[in-house]
Amino acid sequence: MSVISVPQAFNEEDLYVDLRPIFGRSLFLKCEGFNFAGSIKLKAANEMVEAADRAGVLKPGSVLVESSSGNLGVALSVIAASKGYRFLCVTDSRCNLSTRLMMEALGSRVHVVAEPDAVGGFLGARIDFVRSLCASDDRYVWLNQYTNPGNWKAHYRTTAPAIAREFPQLDVLFVGAGTTGTLMGCARYFREWQRPVRIVAVDSVGSVTFGGAPGRRMIPGLGASIRPPLLDEFYVDEVMNVEEMDTIRACHRLARHGFLFGGSTGTVVSGAMSWLASHDTRDVIAVAIAPDLGERYLDTIFHTNWLRAIYGKDVLTPAEGHWHDPDAPVRTCHRIAF
Ligand SMILES: Cc1ncc(COP(=O)(O)O)c(C=O)c1O
Repeated sequence: MSVISVPQAFNEEDLYVDLRPIFGRSLFLKCEGFNFAGSIKLKAANEMVEAADRAGVLKPGSVLVESSSGNLGVALSVIAASKGYRFLCVTDSRCNLSTRLMMEALGSRVHVVAEPDAVGGFLGARIDFVRSLCASDDRYVWLNQYTNPGNWKAHYRTTAPAIAREFPQLDVLFVGAGTTGTLMGCARYFREWQRPVRIVAVDSVGSVTFGGAPGRRMIPGLGASIRPPLLDEFYVDEVMNVEEMDTIRACHRLARHGFLFGGSTGTVVSGAMSWLASHDTRDVIAVAIAPDLGERYLDTIFHTNWLRAIYGKDVLTPAEGHWHDPDAPVRTCHRIAF
């Protein structure tokens, strides 16, 4: 039995899905979506708020402010509500409607940036807005997940040791890259570990994180329009870039086996399966990290009209178990702005 009195005290740390029956290759998927924030971001949020508390940065009247594509915003909303802080989340129009509503239900305020910056994209526009808020009123406290060491330290302290405990023979670890907090925390931990582990970062095509050309990305979570300041490529062995169409296909394939995961899980699984397919992996122990679950993506990744409007009618084939008539007319998607 687990009994808690604050929501951030609970996190399922020991759950893995064996993907061999679904994809035909052995990959253990670490599920990070089972906590009261519904994502891996609860760990980073907790670490950053605790550090700010200890440093005396948060005072009565302080307002936490953060730029987030959604999940960190939900996690900070949970913690702010639990600790009695006010929180303003600055997000953009790609943030899922349900994610925004969740933050508001938890008592947070949400500001949606509608126009990307000409150079820095949506992320640049969000960060500019946060900077201008902080300059206008010193009650705002910006934890800044893009530079805050607590972001990667959370995973160095919890996620990576949890994997190491369960997989003492681990050979390769696949981690999606957003702010690169998860990636850098795990990569730093395994660099110091008892045996060499290949660290494979998974990113979306259109992200500039590892030097790729900027392009349209519709799925929140992974990828960046500005190079993440936390990233140190010295710790990364390889990078897999995944097209969003392949992300969608992996998400639907998992869902058709009863596992409803979010977009970045689809990206990581797709990248990992491509990597495994091109290596001799008979005895390889491979783990991938699934940052969240799929409910937040019901009106995007799992919504036929949204999919057709963004990617065209052929995005899903019968191989993904998609049973909608591909020739049915595309109706207007009314739930989400894009
Ligand atoms: C769903 C999802 N996946 C992946 C990530 C990326 O994690 P990180 O920022 O640690 O790189 C995030 C971060 O917000 C996320 O929300």
